[in-house]
Amino acid sequence: MKAGTVLSLAIIKNRKVIGAVSLNKIIKHHRAELGYWLAEEYWQQGIVSQAVKLIVAYGFKCLKLIRIYAYVMSPNKASMKVLKNNGFKKEGILKRHSVKDDRCSDLYVFAKVKR
Ligand SMILES: CC(C)(COP(=O)(O)OP(=O)(O)OC[C@H]1O[C@@H](n2cnc3c(N)ncnc32)[C@H](O)[C@@H]1OP(=O)(O)O)[C@@H](O)C(=O)NCCC(=O)NCCS
Repeated sequence: MKAGTVLSLAIIKNRKVIGAVSLNKIIKHHRAELGYWLAEEYWQQGIVSQAVKLIVAYGFKCLKLIRIYAYVMSPNKASMKVLKNNGFKKEGILKRHSVKDDRCSDLYVFAKVKR
């Protein structure tokens, strides 16, 4: 696997893609960035927490990663909860780093690290 490779898995219901989880910027045996999204009608059913659990386990076991990290914009409480549900720890806050709809917001860095 080349450095910077992406592994993206679709979340499928009734043969329709309703979301995805991915490991981006993979550096084999080292680290990757986690990303995910889900169609709004399926939110708050535990779907992404479960999908993240699977891809994180795959990353640590099969890709031999030692660090999986994610960036979350400060208003996104649901996303932070998904990470906390999966044992990710908040490492820091990049103050006013992100811009959305002409407004600056803080960007949180979360990671799960294998000791
Ligand atoms: C973030 C996202 C993936 C969550 O998906 P989901 O399947 O609804 O997540 P889950 O149901 O597994 O978990 C969501 C948790 O957040 C909680 N939550 C939802 N909205 C919340 C809010 N406003 N404040 C606090 N907690 C909230 C839910 O109650 C749930 O907690 P629980 O595990 O204790 O039940 C989904 O909202 C999404 O696709 N958002 C748009 C894309 C996005 O933000 N991607 C992540 C970028 S970092």
